Amino acid sequence: MDYFPIFVKLKDQDCLVVGAGEIAARKIELLARADAKITVIANEISSAVSNLQVTHNLNIQKKTFSPTVDLHGFRLIVSATDNADTNRLVAKTAAEQNIPVNVVDNPELCTFIFPAIIDRSPVVAAVSSGGASPVLARLLRAKIEGLIPPAYGRLAHIAEKFRPFVKRIIKEPAQRRIFWENILQGSIAELVFSGKEQEAEAQLEQTLINQKENVNVGEVYLVGAGPGAPDLLTFRALRLMQQADVIVYDRLVSPEIIDLARRDSEKIYVGKQRHNHALPQESINSLLADLAKAGKRVVRLKGGDPFIFGRGGEEIETLMQQGINFQVVPGITAASGCATYAGIPLTHRDHAQSCTFVTGHLKDNSINLNWKQLAAPNQTIVIYMGLVGLEKICQSLIEHGSPKNLPVALVQQGTTSNQRVITGTLESLPGIVAGQDIKPPTLVIIGTVVMLHDKLEWFHTDQPV
Ligand SMILES: C[S@@+](CC[C@H](N)C(=O)[O-])C[C@H]1O[C@@H](n2cnc3c(N)ncnc32)[C@H](O)[C@@H]1O
Repeated sequence: MDYFPIFVKLKDQDCLVVGAGEIAARKIELLARADAKITVIANEISSAVSNLQVTHNLNIQKKTFSPTVDLHGFRLIVSATDNADTNRLVAKTAAEQNIPVNVVDNPELCTFIFPAIIDRSPVVAAVSSGGASPVLARLLRAKIEGLIPPAYGRLAHIAEKFRPFVKRIIKEPAQRRIFWENILQGSIAELVFSGKEQEAEAQLEQTLINQKENVNVGEVYLVGAGPGAPDLLTFRALRLMQQADVIVYDRLVSPEIIDLARRDSEKIYVGKQRHNHALPQESINSLLADLAKAGKRVVRLKGGDPFIFGRGGEEIETLMQQGINFQVVPGITAASGCATYAGIPLTHRDHAQSCTFVTGHLKDNSINLNWKQLAAPNQTIVIYMGLVGLEKICQSLIEHGSPKNLPVALVQQGTTSNQRVITGTLESLPGIVAGQDIKPPTLVIIGTVVMLHDKLEWFHTDQPV
């Protein structure tokens, strides 16, 4: 390590900033966040710095920096002038008096550097590239920002409040660590993140009581895994997958997504294929409840969004009946993912003012849909599970008044590297598709918006067109 990271208490401590331009203003704002008492020495004061004078109670001294300036009592010095000689002089004078100094954009003259900061006070994370590439440090900070929910600070305050009670009830330090790991990654943390702090505190109290009485309580997260591409997962989905003890997943969830789950979590496949139900829905519902009752944190991972043709409602109904804690995490549904990746906007001022999602699942060899309504113009229809019944669907729409030449697209494995978009019309598409080797899952999009595909197609794969 070229620089050793420490966190310095600056509250009410004197800090000096030499220079008063835009960059100095940014440094002043940073120091002010730690409640430092800031003196500014500069010949000219920019409006950016004078604007900060009142809010941060700056002591501004309009003069040239010289070695005779009394530096006694300053904790830190920042030199942010555009004059190389002044910057060198500030560094030299500070070094002689053993005061840490930072010269902006000049790592050689620095005895300390400013990291990129992720502020979730009282939790603060700092990233540094040791002056090698501040941009890289900032990019890394952006990544970490995305992973640390803004409410982390509130979570830390609750943890601080409960610390003495937890210490009293759980005497063993190792057990206490496991307890806190579970709290800070589990449903209580999630409650804080979604703004329900009172509920979180009540649950934390109950968990402590259970702990005292040795009761194990698990929970279920019903998570939408999106349409296929792993980076279309939400941050929350990823976070929950990385803390779950068990992942219960479907056929539509790709191996790349399963790979993102906690390494040592148990993975249970309950996937369904047409005509081949790996596990009946009722058994999945009870499996989730049983796992949670055994104290496990369970992620029930489903393709797309759990509440769109995903039977998510049935699964949480069972959990509710049995008093099991759960939360639902939405995912990008196939309609949205496939349409976007096929360059087909589902609504468009010139084409469609509404969009309807329907299932094309055949029951007793027929599809029971409101064809009259679906055949009306100026709308888009998205059909899930519509490949087998494609011919019937197209026929029914034509019979109910849709034009034979209404554009239709079939999207195979949308958003993945196997995506393929086959276009035609209500009359022609069933014939075109019949002669092709189509790989499930597929989605059907019907409406004049499909015409935009040729113009707006942006996502290309090696698959045949
Ligand atoms: C049981 S439904 C589940 C839908 C899921 N809950 C969602 O919100 O996307 C399964 C159907 O979704 C569609 N589907 C899901 N992912 C898809 C993808 N990547 N490409 C094309 N169709 C997809 C197919 O029509 C598939 O038969």
